[in-house]
Amino acid sequence: MKKILYVAAECMPFAATGGLGDVIGSLPAALKGIYGKAADIRVALPLYRAVDTSFREVLSKEAAFTVRLSWRNQSCSVWSLRREGILYYFIDNGYYFDRQDIYGYPDDGERFAFFSMAVLDMLEHVDFWPDILHAHDWQGALAVLYRFLLYGRRAEYDGIKTIFTIHNIEYQGRFSLPMLEDVFALSPIHTDLLGWKEEINLMQGAMILADQITTVSPTYAAEILTPAFGHGLDQILREHTAKLSGILNGIDYVYYDPADSAVSLSYTKETIYRKRENKLALQNSLGLPTSENVPLFSVISRLVGHKGCDLLCAAARRLLAEQDAQLIILGTGEAQYEACFRELEKSFPEKMRALILYDRDLSKKIYAASDFFIMPSISEPCGLSQMIACRYGAIPIVRETGGLADSIKNFQTENGRIQGCGLVFQNDHADALYEKIAEALDIYRNTTLYRQMAIQSMEQDFSWNASAGIYAALYQRLCSPQKG
Ligand code: GLC
Repeated sequence: MKKILYVAAECMPFAATGGLGDVIGSLPAALKGIYGKAADIRVALPLYRAVDTSFREVLSKEAAFTVRLSWRNQSCSVWSLRREGILYYFIDNGYYFDRQDIYGYPDDGERFAFFSMAVLDMLEHVDFWPDILHAHDWQGALAVLYRFLLYGRRAEYDGIKTIFTIHNIEYQGRFSLPMLEDVFALSPIHTDLLGWKEEINLMQGAMILADQITTVSPTYAAEILTPAFGHGLDQILREHTAKLSGILNGIDYVYYDPADSAVSLSYTKETIYRKRENKLALQNSLGLPTSENVPLFSVISRLVGHKGCDLLCAAARRLLAEQDAQLIILGTGEAQYEACFRELEKSFPEKMRALILYDRDLSKKIYAASDFFIMPSISEPCGLSQMIACRYGAIPIVRETGGLADSIKNFQTENGRIQGCGLVFQNDHADALYEKIAEALDIYRNTTLYRQMAIQSMEQDFSWNASAGIYAALYQRLCSPQKG
């Protein structure tokens, strides 16, 4: 029996702010699909205020204990819920997690230190000893660190292999040096392990100690070895390439399904023409002129620099000024980009909507309505939106980087057959994006060609089918005595 514990700050459908939540919400189930009864798969996450009452009502209490974090003693309850064969543990402490948002507090370091320590303490209380502890992003980094630095001398903990997955190397968990002892409860002898430019860096420590490091696409795994993408951690990663690999994420094909009722009129690739009803419904609900013939572009993204918002602002302005097209942007982020898109909506009220919010239900309606989906990221560890766009038959226009390069190949015709599933450009310049947008408009004018390409996008398999097996092989290698 293989025992796996995922440790992460987000997990769909309980609490999520982005792609991490999608992955933790679907990867464990994909592995369960492979192992069946031969695996006991569990997930640990904080019990945030955001966790819906419909879930809270069915939680069972597993344990209650005190967690020591340096001089602090904090109470902790652990609740659980079983869903589709996976056991979810919710780490409960009202002071840390009963707050409006999931992140963004001055004491985030302390909050996730508590979470990580509580997860390791919990193992003893629930008597679950995983073969593999698979921790994600900086919020899970301390679970790896504590496994080695505080709990490693105990036999049950010593048997646990660890995997640390980087979903985005830009967010590293950097804190001031005094926090090492005072908050993270680690001894000054570990200053070198975590020390980074007069700070401590939780991601660095987890990378060094974890048995394996993975990231979310093969191209990103290569990119983060370079200074341009490594955000200061490339040197450390180069020293650990032997245990680094990139595994492309999949998406949840049940949650993202154009054939379900989350869209205005459900469809499949055989009934792709029904997308136009979705377009009309969305235009109508957003107060845009209703027309099935005007090409509809969309962007669903955090509005931050590395998502290519500078390129987008410039190219969008040109698109709206020069072409008969519509553009919908959904997302929140940095003030300057929110302002830019709001201003564009003001200047082009008949063509553009800037929806500055995070709304998963609305996002599905937008994917279903769109003819093209724009994702001009400067860097992109994996990216799920381009895959979701394909699933909904919205042709992705992407920059060739990270997981975008691994998932979307540029359309081309070979022996009369269309290959690829999107439009791909290289330069991180607004003109390069605009050129692809212009190409998209040409394609759109040729209805038959456009339809063929949209169907081709829908035919891609971005489910976990391919990648779950790669994780299973990695788990296998880690657990086998020779360690492959
Ligand atoms: C982060 C990355 C994104 C990736 C997601 C899930 O949000 O920025 O590229 O798809 O994690 O791994």
